[in-house]
Amino acid sequence: MRKVVVGAAVVGGAAVVGVAAVVVRQRMKSCGKWARAMALVKEFEEKCATPEAKLKQVADAMTVEMHAGLASEGGSKLKMLITFVDHLPTGDEDGVFYALDLGGTNFRVLQLQLGGRGGVVNQKFTEVSIPPALMRGTSDELFDYIAEKLANFAAEEEQMFHQPPGKQRELGFTFSFPVMQTSINSGTLIRWTKGFAIHDAVGQDVVAELTKALKRRGVEMRVAALVNDTIGTLAGGRYTNKDVYLGVILGTGTNAAYVERAQAIPKWHGSLPKSGEMVINMEWGNFRSSHLPITEYDHALDVGSVNPGEQIFEKLTSGMYLGEVLRRVLLRMAAEASFFGVEVPPKLKVPFVLSTPDMSAMHQDTSSDLREVDNKLKTVLEISNTSLKTRRVVVELCNIVATRGARLAAAGILGILKKMGRDTPQEGDGKTAIAVDGGLYEHYTEYRKCLENTLGQLLGDKTASSIVFEHSRDGSGIGAALLAASNSL
Ligand code: BGC
Repeated sequence: MRKVVVGAAVVGGAAVVGVAAVVVRQRMKSCGKWARAMALVKEFEEKCATPEAKLKQVADAMTVEMHAGLASEGGSKLKMLITFVDHLPTGDEDGVFYALDLGGTNFRVLQLQLGGRGGVVNQKFTEVSIPPALMRGTSDELFDYIAEKLANFAAEEEQMFHQPPGKQRELGFTFSFPVMQTSINSGTLIRWTKGFAIHDAVGQDVVAELTKALKRRGVEMRVAALVNDTIGTLAGGRYTNKDVYLGVILGTGTNAAYVERAQAIPKWHGSLPKSGEMVINMEWGNFRSSHLPITEYDHALDVGSVNPGEQIFEKLTSGMYLGEVLRRVLLRMAAEASFFGVEVPPKLKVPFVLSTPDMSAMHQDTSSDLREVDNKLKTVLEISNTSLKTRRVVVELCNIVATRGARLAAAGILGILKKMGRDTPQEGDGKTAIAVDGGLYEHYTEYRKCLENTLGQLLGDKTASSIVFEHSRDGSGIGAALLAASNSL
């Protein structure tokens, strides 16, 4: 009997030791996994680093590419497109004008009543989302859809407001993709960006395409100006502040435009404009340089995109891609370090499921238990029961991705200021205002703060005090209407 008891005790003891060993092994394993996850974070952070010296190299490379793009067509990855905008709004614009703002998943139609020095007297707009299928369909399908919405809007608005008799309705068309302009109101699409892929539109004059669609709908409207959103933002900004020299978009995509001396554009063979100036649409989203901190995640994102090898700067800095970069890092951590448990959460495998607004909400979660991070992980990625420690790491990753993007955008702006000779204090306390628009800038506060602070650091206090950021909300549509006014028949 005693023997049996002893035997049982031995067996029991062995079981306890066995269980303890399993627990220890599991702990070690999970410590190992956690260590692996942290190593991936560290490696990512190091590869995304943007110390000041690197940012200055990026800025210098931007300036060099600007010169090259202005020197000859195709001379640089930066297209440096001539816009035929040689004078910006003065504030004297008068009359009723329309604008159509197409550049992302939504488009806006506006009607503006300009009252000369009285400014914008009246403004109406509507916003319509573009069905995803139309972003990859045919040119006629897209433009017919737009023409239909524009026709409905114009019909409604004109019950309230009539054009003077004999006056044709005129429209400023903000088309936020790279276009080779042939005049202020014509230009051919070079390529699509931001997920659009309507192949038969490439190489076509987008104003002619819109005009044909308007005719098919029986809408009488003349496109008086074709502008990029950066040009609209610049024009809208200048309307209210004469110190505005740059327009920057930080939204789904990114780009910048600025006022150049016409004589500094060797590839321009036309007559010199009276103003001596020409606005340039840089298409900086396509900038690339060996100084850019590109990781394997960015590389994989690019390879899998609809435009591989293109828009590299945009893929590092803009709203369409930040959330996707984050998703890719999390996916690797889940697969290689069981970051969210043994199984890789299936939702995490879906490209673009994690949007930048979701990332921004997690990044800016100030609750002590990171409730919003928990909520986004649950609702967007279907990942529940995460520890606070895990959620903190998610926030850290958001910070790495956003900081890199914002600092690179600041370096890009520094490059333009250098090209314009505005990176040093100006005579007589002159200011340089930068009109900025786009959802990323507007809603992602951490990103915006980082961008503005970084530019300040790069410029130094004295120059920084002469630089003003202006959020030009919806400036691109308003600017297009203003440019339609100054190019009206
Ligand atoms: C386009 C630009 C546009 C920018 C911001 C980029 O993808 O190429 O033309 O200005 O997005 O909308």
